[in-house]
Formats: sequence, C-alpha cells, structure tokens
Amino acid sequence: MRLDFFTLFPEAFDWFRSQRPVRNAEAAGVELRFFSWRDTTPIGAGKVDDSPYGGGAGMVLRVDVVDAALREAYGEAERPRVVLLTPAGRLLDDALVGELAGESHLALLSGRYEGFDQRVHDHLADDEVSIGRYVLAGGELPAMVLADAVIRRLPGALGHEDSAVEESFSAALGGAPEYPQYTRPPSYRGWDVPDVLVSGDHERVREWRLEQSRQRAAGLGDAD
Ligand code: 6GU
Repeated sequence: MRLDFFTLFPEAFDWFRSQRPVRNAEAAGVELRFFSWRDTTPIGAGKVDDSPYGGGAGMVLRVDVVDAALREAYGEAERPRVVLLTPAGRLLDDALVGELAGESHLALLSGRYEGFDQRVHDHLADDEVSIGRYVLAGGELPAMVLADAVIRRLPGALGHEDSAVEESFSAALGGAPEYPQYTRPPSYRGWDVPDVLVSGDHERVREWRLEQSRQRAAGLGDAD
C-alpha cells in the first residue's frame, strides 16, 4: 500500500513515522510519502490560502493550490482514492478503516485555517472523513489517526499476526470492545486475576472472554 500525506506541516508527521508499527509496515513494503502544499503552490511565495468570499474570519485553503499539488504528484497517472480530513466528514469507524485498508493507494489531505475551498470537496476529493464531532486546529492529527488505524490492519505492521484479529470492534468480536487482559502478578494488593484465566482450560477462557466482550458492548449501549 502507498499512503500519500498532503499537508502544510510534513514535519508534524516525524514522530508518527518513527513509531514501531509504522516502521514495520514500511519494512513490509508500505510506502509513506509527504507533500507540502507550499512546495507546489502556483500562486507564489509559498502562499496557499486566502480570505473567504463573502467575508468572515480566517483563511481558506485554495482550490488551485490543492489541484496543483495533486497534479504534481500524480500527473496524468491514475489517482489514488483522495480522502479529505474535515470535521464534518463521515465519522471514522472500524468499518471505514477496513474499507480504506483494502485500497492500494490513498491520498490524505490535511488543511488548516477554516478548511478547504468547497470546490476541493466537490471536484477533487473522493471521501471526506472526520475523527469525531469536535474541531481541531488542522487535519494532521486526524490523518495520523486514520493512517495508524489503517496501518495496523496491514500484514506485518504488528509483531503478532493475530493481534489485530480479535481486538476491539473487530468482526471476530461481533463489533464489541475487546475483553479485559491481565498479566503477572496473579494477585496484587488483593486485586486478583480471574481464576478462569489461570485455569489452563482454553475453552472456558474463550467463553469467558466472549461474555466479557458482550458485557462491555452492553455497557456502551451498543449491540446486544
Ligand atoms: Cl478530520 N479535521 C479537523 N480540523 N478537526 C476535526 C477533524 C478533522 N475530525 C474531527 N475534528
């Protein structure tokens, strides 16, 4: 898979790129590329934004700037699926993560200020994605959230291949949260690990975990 990030702040992704699962994914053939809106702006002097027609606060990322960056990156070649990170977009959930993880190539577009010119939404983006109903200063953190969630679905990103199968909200758990996990010590300040987990009875462990997962789902007010 190839993931292209378009942003005003490529350096904001340095920490993300240094993370083990991301480096593992890169070693396994996932390609991450970073493009700065400023590097290809057609309006000069690194300018990328302008004040909104009709007046109002803030600045808007220009459509010609976004179009130039995409043309420069892809030319007449086939375009990837272009995902705009925007607070009012489709809410990111496990199903959307799975759908995006199935793509061979994604472009993740992060804006700042008051967002993108509407013509970017209308003519250049395939999807608009939000990570929650609140507003952040820019699309970089959402792009990293999306990429983190997508990358951990890809083969080779996690140390243990089964780690992503039976985890919170996965199909293996019927969309429910993951069951509780315990490790040593078996008893600490009188807080004990449930007996079933140290019983060695794998079938009982499996049933207990599914039941715990179901109870957590009920606690979230979801599912059954
Ligand atoms: Cl994708 N962008 C911004 N700026 N704020 C957000 C968001 C995205 N998702 C939730 N809040």
